[in-house]
Amino acid sequence: MQKLLSNLPLHIGIIMDGNGRWATRRGLPRNLGHKEGMRAVERTIDALIKFGIKVVTFFAFSTENWKRSKEEIEGIFALVRDYLNTNSNYFSEKGVKVRSMGDLDKFPKDLTSALENAKEETKHNDKLVLNLALNYGGRDDITYSVNKLIKSGKKAITEKDILDNLYSEGLPEPDLIIRTSGEQRISNFMIYQAAYSEYYFTKTYWPDFDEKCLKKALIAFQKRERRYGGIK
Ligand code: IPE
Ligand code: IPE
Ligand code: MG
Repeated sequence: MQKLLSNLPLHIGIIMDGNGRWATRRGLPRNLGHKEGMRAVERTIDALIKFGIKVVTFFAFSTENWKRSKEEIEGIFALVRDYLNTNSNYFSEKGVKVRSMGDLDKFPKDLTSALENAKEETKHNDKLVLNLALNYGGRDDITYSVNKLIKSGKKAITEKDILDNLYSEGLPEPDLIIRTSGEQRISNFMIYQAAYSEYYFTKTYWPDFDEKCLKKALIAFQKRERRYGGIK
């Protein structure tokens, strides 16, 4: 498939939703939905590279997702850990740089070390930044940034100071945020950075998301007129 050359988003945020419903509909346990969801992540990364996207943030686990059962939470963590541990060759072949966003303190050691290894191994790659939002919440992000600024001794804080000290420090703001599964809400995802993001909602459950779905979202994005409060 040819590249969609012009007017592409630099940074895409993806709220991967619908894994549980995808599984429940098939009479399967929720964790099988997450497993299929991980396949969709792999497919989507291939497609993002193909289309030349530079930065992607996947919302993998929110600060609110701790409300779920221990079994489900542990299942999600194991999937992320295994994904990171088995894709080291892929990351180097494709030039994927792994980073993360969120408070990692509460995670099991096997997951944090898989993440630290992947970050270290891929730190010089420059084709696609793969940013994983883990134990991430937009409100927590803002609080974290402000606390960092207070600790640095700042007396007056600007909008830019807050932006520059978020977990996403150094990344561009997301141009496009895709949410699957038909829900039309932000669920605490990058609320500060998304002030002028374009949203794209699809009814597709995340495990069914593929290159075709991504292409549709990109074409929709290309038709948007971004005005940032001005006049065109
Ligand atoms: C999204 O799918 C994945 C995570 C939140 C980790 P869900 O698990 O929220 O799926 P639904 O919304 O229950 O269908
Ligand atoms: C958002 O999905 C979080 C992730 C995709 C990780 P949720 O399923 O947790 O969001 P709500 O509860 O429907 O708002
Ligand atoms: Mg959900």
